[in-house]
Amino acid sequence: MTKIRIEKKACATLPKKYVRLTFTNDKSDFHRFVESSDGTSHYKMGVGASKDLTPRKFITAIRSAIQSCKRHHIPYVALELDLDAFPKVSKKGSQWAFRTLTENLLIAAYSFDKYKSKKNDAHELKEIVVCGVHTKSDSEACTRGIVVAQSVNLTRDIANTTAEEMTPTQLGKEAQKALRGTAATVRVLGEKELKKLQMNLLLAVGQGTVSETKLILIEYWGAGKNKSEKPIVLVGKGVTYDTGGLNVKPSGSMHEMHLDMSGGSSVIGALSCAAKLKLKKNIIGIIPAAENAVSDRSMRAGDIVRSKSGKTVEIVHTDAEGRLILADALTYAQKYEPRVVLDMATLTGAALVALGQHASAIMTNDQKLESTLRELGEESGDYVWPLPLWEEYKQHIKSDRADVANIAPNFSRFGGTIEGGTFLSYFAPTSCPWAHIDIAPRMNSIPSDKLAKGSTGEPVRLLVRFVESY
Ligand code: BES
Ligand code: ZN
Ligand code: ZN
Repeated sequence: MTKIRIEKKACATLPKKYVRLTFTNDKSDFHRFVESSDGTSHYKMGVGASKDLTPRKFITAIRSAIQSCKRHHIPYVALELDLDAFPKVSKKGSQWAFRTLTENLLIAAYSFDKYKSKKNDAHELKEIVVCGVHTKSDSEACTRGIVVAQSVNLTRDIANTTAEEMTPTQLGKEAQKALRGTAATVRVLGEKELKKLQMNLLLAVGQGTVSETKLILIEYWGAGKNKSEKPIVLVGKGVTYDTGGLNVKPSGSMHEMHLDMSGGSSVIGALSCAAKLKLKKNIIGIIPAAENAVSDRSMRAGDIVRSKSGKTVEIVHTDAEGRLILADALTYAQKYEPRVVLDMATLTGAALVALGQHASAIMTNDQKLESTLRELGEESGDYVWPLPLWEEYKQHIKSDRADVANIAPNFSRFGGTIEGGTFLSYFAPTSCPWAHIDIAPRMNSIPSDKLAKGSTGEPVRLLVRFVESY
């Protein structure tokens, strides 16, 4: 694992083993490795005209630099941030710049080689030193960025693990491990308790497998339980494997469905980060965890299930399982009398059709929450974009046999992401703002992210900024 160190000293004072990384005004595909006469080595990376470097490009430039260092087997690297050269970045303030720097250095350094027999330890990037950090506030921003990045990487480790290992039970254990030694508490409810709680939608999704369905509850009362501050509730989809159930997925669409608990793992990451930073906020994490399997005991298309809320749901398609487990979790969330609820889910392939793979879709009827999430998305690099939740969409999921259908009974695929959000709106809190974040577009990284393949760990950076500032 790559270590990171923050230094007041200038790069020039470091031993020669540290390759000095600098951004130059060259085109972004122009990289040079230069050895100076004093024996120091310099990795010069073009980022284009430095005056035009936007905050978004700054993020990818940092990641790109680290990817290059890894590709060239550079074990020790040092860099210094010259904010004066990048007016568009310095406009965001030096704390934003330093936090964003360390966050992205470590996120880019991440790799997942758990299942590779041949480890590349000899060639790994061992240490990054951020030099020239003079003020206390800049140094604290760096440290905060490091804690956030570690939480993002933890989220990715959990998500990238095979479904064979990462069962609902194991996901509960990962939550316990992540929160150990912090002020947060973790409880994991099993099927017996879920029956008592009448979380029948959650149980229905998990009924096709011997892997026990769980409800993972993380409570962090950083502002004090007895204070009047109501908690922020974060709900994450924890489908540890999604075969599609009896309406089974086509084979090309199934093999990455171990990542279908990415919403859940992002909630573990965000809570772990908040607890480690000792934020003075009350935050609850709720992760309904189940495997959507095919067997003679699986829920059937055509089944009608009474949800925890009392509303009955016609299961028109067993592959629209995420919204079922989230529905019961959103109902459960109301017992905390939240001041705001966010749910994160790899809910629909249609979100990739709508947005491509550059942003998650957000749906909310609270205009203020929508703009807050958009702004924090931009701040954090976990970009989000809104879709509507208008009344008109409700008619599409009317059921002849039950109170609501889990997909349009005419099997129309139009507006699939909005359809998912609309279904959830039947179960979402009415007494506080709620937003649904469909993170399917960001489940897997794409080459332009300049990140390791697999889980992106989104939207942990967004969630941390949200709980910090809400
Ligand atoms: N987990 C999938 C959505 C998904 C697809 C996430 C691709 C990431 C990448 C979800 O449970 C699902 O299968 N949704 C269906 C809904 C359909 C049956 C209405 C889909 O998107 O096809
Ligand atoms: Zn599905
Ligand atoms: Zn799914």
